[in-house]
Amino acid sequence: MADKVGNIRAKNYYTDVPFAQNQFYVKGMDHVDWGMKNRLAQIFNPKSKNTVMLAFDHGYIMGSTFGLERLDLAIPPLVEDIDVLMATRGGLRAAIPPHYNKGIALRCSAGSCVLNDDMSHEVIGVDIEDAIRMNASCMAVQVFVGADGQTSSIDNLVKTIDAGNRYGIPTLGVIAVGKQMERTTKYFLLATRMVAEFGAQIIKTYYCKDFEKITAACPVPIVLAGGKKLPEDEALTMCYKAISEGARGVDMGRNIFQAEDQKAMTKAVAHIVHNGYTDTQAYEFYCDMKGKC
Ligand code: R5P
Repeated sequence: MADKVGNIRAKNYYTDVPFAQNQFYVKGMDHVDWGMKNRLAQIFNPKSKNTVMLAFDHGYIMGSTFGLERLDLAIPPLVEDIDVLMATRGGLRAAIPPHYNKGIALRCSAGSCVLNDDMSHEVIGVDIEDAIRMNASCMAVQVFVGADGQTSSIDNLVKTIDAGNRYGIPTLGVIAVGKQMERTTKYFLLATRMVAEFGAQIIKTYYCKDFEKITAACPVPIVLAGGKKLPEDEALTMCYKAISEGARGVDMGRNIFQAEDQKAMTKAVAHIVHNGYTDTQAYEFYCDMKGKC
């Protein structure tokens, strides 16, 4: 403990300088507590104000899928170029070395579509204590607006938001698009705004026509979900369009771990998200780096 011996009397009070008025750089988060801001800063890079999330929580929905047959081999090599891992607690604990020190978007809703292809009846799959134990930077809950299980999914979301607010952990509301659900601008405008108004601090949704309206109308940051595998150039164009139209980052899984060169793709996405690359520049970078990472 610092002792008083040798203490030098204070003298510079800069009385003409106003105290730091730090406007927090994450949209809509000026009034949350310091701890939540600190976790949001683990997600959104303070310089670019954006994030690259690598999602590998697919196993809870589809079992092992191409590119994720071995989590322990697929994901660790990609970590250096991303900001956040989006994963289940089982996937993280089993496959990611504990010295990993970047953001964690912990998948906290749990369910199955095995019986009737309807994923909308999920439950809260992780309690707040385990989210804290896992050092979660945010907790991810899927919301199925317009599906049979919409009410229970909203209940999962708001319970997670309330628990997260008690401990300063933001909630990522994932806009789900089940097979029976529409993927229109009208639907995404409604669903993203609803989930933000319920109190989610981050919203993840899919790219659609008039995407800039969705990011403008949402009072908290929107992160783009990658969706099904596209050719690498098309995936980079989608990423570029989303960032250009107001998304504060991407959360991609299949378009990274199913790419021909996963590491080159991760780097190319990061160049768009953090370094202002266009899709053309990023694709040229990807082609140059393919096979060399
Ligand atoms: C939904 O949130 C899924 O669990 C994935 O996290 C999300 O869809 C991102 O993965 P992908 O880019 O493969 O769709």
